[in-house]
Amino acid sequence: MEKAKLLKLLYQYRSFGFEYIKDFKPFISKQNQHLSCNLNEIEINVKNCHLCPLAKSRTNTVFGEGNLDANLMFIGEGPGANEDKTGKPFVGRAGMLLTKIIENVLHLKRSDVYIANIVKCRPPNNRVPTIEEVTACKPYLMEQIALIKPKIIVALGSTSYHHLTDDYDMSISKIRGEVLEYGDAKLIPTYHPSFLLRNPSAKKDVFADMLKVKKLL
Ligand code: URA
Ligand code: SF4
Repeated sequence: MEKAKLLKLLYQYRSFGFEYIKDFKPFISKQNQHLSCNLNEIEINVKNCHLCPLAKSRTNTVFGEGNLDANLMFIGEGPGANEDKTGKPFVGRAGMLLTKIIENVLHLKRSDVYIANIVKCRPPNNRVPTIEEVTACKPYLMEQIALIKPKIIVALGSTSYHHLTDDYDMSISKIRGEVLEYGDAKLIPTYHPSFLLRNPSAKKDVFADMLKVKKLL
């Protein structure tokens, strides 16, 4: 936890524009001496990121993809094997289910929304990312949210919900479907598609949550 606190502090300094690691951006130019200011720059920073141990075992970073002007953003937990291989979020079995939900329930195209994860590198054996890994990685997601400015954020599963809100004691089965204030956006937690693959009877709950999302869009 000490390490996590220290990282949090360093990230606070960085958000003030403080370059505390001179070599973090090897391509530092005159224009980006302060904060990352567009998604491409942040994506390059993520590609070169070694701020947590997941850098060692990843094949590819998985930054996120979709409509940069999206009203709706989905946030999962972290890349799995297929995502690590391709560098794209939600492309495995859970991803196919998420795509179906977007198309068949929300009547949108996958390319209409933006899809990202709490951590950008795959945790070995798909374990849940540690607090240190999330603390190191979350500022990238916060910058993505700040630039995309979605109207609605759907937190997919408990890891996503817990780390987006710091409400660690809440169970996803209790909070799912609630419409929560999240800065300028609404946050709606729901079950993770991987959970739905194991528990198909929970699909009806996600269906109900998505109807709420659709009404608010
Ligand atoms: N599960 C996630 O949480 N994210 C992905 O990108 C894929 C599977
Ligand atoms: Fe960097 Fe995030 Fe990957 Fe860790 S998970 S190495 S913080 S991009």
